[in-house]
Amino acid sequence: MELVIARDKKEAIKKATKIISDLIRKKPNAVLQVATGSTMIPLYNELVRLYKKGEINFSEVSTFNLDEYAGLNFNNKESYHYYMNRYLFDKVNIQKCNTHFPSSNKEEYETEINKHGGIDLTILGIGINGHIAFNEPGSSFKSTTREVKLSKKTLDVNSRLFPNIKKVPKEAYTVGIKTIMKSKGIMLLAFGSKKSDAIKKALNGPITKDVPASVLREHKNVTFILDRDASQGL
Ligand code: F6R
Repeated sequence: MELVIARDKKEAIKKATKIISDLIRKKPNAVLQVATGSTMIPLYNELVRLYKKGEINFSEVSTFNLDEYAGLNFNNKESYHYYMNRYLFDKVNIQKCNTHFPSSNKEEYETEINKHGGIDLTILGIGINGHIAFNEPGSSFKSTTREVKLSKKTLDVNSRLFPNIKKVPKEAYTVGIKTIMKSKGIMLLAFGSKKSDAIKKALNGPITKDVPASVLREHKNVTFILDRDASQGL
């Protein structure tokens, strides 16, 4: 496991984009498993900047999103489809046919990942309750792509993006912990003091289903990239 504690978010994003751009340069048809959320916005902005400078080429890259709300239309501004188009896909030369999202197609999603030769790099954020993708505390380490109920905490946190909490979908599709652990490489990004408790439990506490991110310590090629605030509990 590699732990990077960057001076600030900007330096952390630089480190993360270097890992991604080095991978794509080495393997132009790299397969990425990607997240949404506020942590990823500066990362995608930086990838778009590098693309515009001619430093990254997404024409052969494939992506598999980690999760998507159930029951939201893809044009809905809160859907993860909309988010990915807005922050990344519409701004770079990725082919939309190479982008994938989990849905009721659960087994097919796993099969499609395998057909692509597996995931080269999974890019994760972390929830304040230690969730990764939408694998909430209590998720089995053997879990694969499935439909899940979102925890009260996650609904509360995510309600900031909806008119009110009642509008937040209560269910979502997510890849499983096993799906994530099968990736050849994993990178987790966390910024800000509100993530410090989850990071402390993930890195220093027991490896337990109660803190899904703690399982990542069992992966051979995982990098945690934090800013100072997120690392303050370590
Ligand atoms: C989103 C996802 C989630 C987020 C996590 C952190 O696709 O998989 O696990 O990474 O909830 O979200 P932010 O970055 O908004 O704090």
